Amino acid sequence: MTQDLAPTVREQTAGPHTQGWWRSAVIYQVYVRSFADSDGDGIGDLRGIRERLPYLAELGVDAVWLTPFFASPQADGGYDVADYRAVDPLFGSLSDADDLVRTAHELGLKVIVDIVPNHTSDQHVWFRAALDEGAGAASRDRYHFRPGQGEHGELPPNDWESVFGGPAWTRTCGPDGTPGEWYLHLFAPEQPDLNWDNEEVREEFESILRFWLDLGVDGFRIDVAHGMVKAAGLPDIGRSEQAKLIGAQVLPFFDQDGVHAIHRSWRKLLDSYGSDRIGVAEAWAPTSERLALYVRPDELHQAFNFQFLTCDWDAGSMRTVIDASLEATASVGAPTTWVLSNHDVVRHTTRYGGGEPGLRRARAAALLMLALPGSTYVYQGEELGLPEVLDLPDEVRQDPAFFRAGSQDGTRDGCRVPIPWSGDRAPYGFGPGGSWLPQPEAWQELSVEAQSGDPRSTLELYRSALVLRRELPGLGDGPMAWLDAPEGVLAVSRPGFVCTLNTLDREVELPVPGRPLLSTSPLAILIPEGRSAEGTVRIPADSCVWWAV
Ligand code: NOJ
Repeated sequence: MTQDLAPTVREQTAGPHTQGWWRSAVIYQVYVRSFADSDGDGIGDLRGIRERLPYLAELGVDAVWLTPFFASPQADGGYDVADYRAVDPLFGSLSDADDLVRTAHELGLKVIVDIVPNHTSDQHVWFRAALDEGAGAASRDRYHFRPGQGEHGELPPNDWESVFGGPAWTRTCGPDGTPGEWYLHLFAPEQPDLNWDNEEVREEFESILRFWLDLGVDGFRIDVAHGMVKAAGLPDIGRSEQAKLIGAQVLPFFDQDGVHAIHRSWRKLLDSYGSDRIGVAEAWAPTSERLALYVRPDELHQAFNFQFLTCDWDAGSMRTVIDASLEATASVGAPTTWVLSNHDVVRHTTRYGGGEPGLRRARAAALLMLALPGSTYVYQGEELGLPEVLDLPDEVRQDPAFFRAGSQDGTRDGCRVPIPWSGDRAPYGFGPGGSWLPQPEAWQELSVEAQSGDPRSTLELYRSALVLRRELPGLGDGPMAWLDAPEGVLAVSRPGFVCTLNTLDREVELPVPGRPLLSTSPLAILIPEGRSAEGTVRIPADSCVWWAV
């Protein structure tokens, strides 16, 4: 039966259409160790990325976010930084970073680097000094050192748990083996948390930001932007399995109001370099309203919308999340920042069910996301429709969460497998050597080479969508409205444009909303003879269609 797609505007939710490249930008996340390897050590590097930048320019993205490539013992894939002003030899040199930024700019791509201010590596000179100098030393005040509880200080200072599982505290030992104070690490023990009440910490990070801004980067993705400030007195939480509360409630270590003063000061610093340098918050906040606080006019420019990422494949839930997100960001005049996958979560092809249905849904979700008002992030390999690798042998895994078991699901290696570029054998053009995680055999068919030029491929779908997104003035930042649609279907209206998403496992027949521009599945449009302005379209199961109206 044909259902109605009434052309009535039901809500006007987007914020004002103001300037700023990031408001509509499509930003591509490069997970540095898994994108392209130039020297054959099986680990991606900056030169490899630079060689592949033309691919990204051609794909049609506006900017590239590079995950941390700074000097690091790699206890957490580089999110444990030992020197924020040096490039890790695994990934190249400072001059490679310089070349990469210059080449990206020549190609019209902006570059965002990943700054990790919540914690350093335990090999950072500050932490080494703090350990060496012992209890009471000023160097310890840059971190959170505390005496333990219990008769002999044998119990941690409070009940906080690490996001990676286990206690968030590790006890230190003096040179003679005598146990001493404990230090806080919300992630791995190799990632001690910095104390942002210490003025030196604030000054040092401003200097680090300037260092990279002077090198020409266009902004920062701010790791754990919700975590730098801890509640005074480090109060107990009073329950276990605290990781389950992250993003669901304000915790004494996450989403404290005090973090906003830091972001405000960083915004001033960014603005002192002109209006085009941006800050992007990786912030897990319990509600859209609290997330919007990070993108107030005097704070950061973007904050990843994880509520969209974690939303089920269900039209009603998606609409609720989209409405809440748009409303919250509009209330502070910011764009919404959509994201479906990144290096910390199971790839959305797999999250949406895996196999053929998972891929169909992932393609449809991508078209929906790219049709929504605001900016969008694309995680490397999602444009190839890559699934999560679920059968990695334990001996090749590197995610510290896997070894500490329990939290952040412990399986983040499965979305970090190096991406396939070409050829019929691993490492599929990733580099001249091997690849640090094994790639599945089936990835031969998913390589950039295999998909290029095939109009049914996911890569060509992304390419077409990104071209259209640039051409159509109604897309990106700007107003949107919902059109009436049957249950299980979403119909998004933008100026001169409609996007219809069918989340059901069966086709749905709708009145033709306009001229089809792009579809994730073949369409059957039925036009009654001699009446070209009317007709119906059968939108296949798990599909999305873009229309010009
Ligand atoms: C978030 C990063 O995305 C993740 O990969 C890392 O493990 C944690 N922050 C800790 O830095």
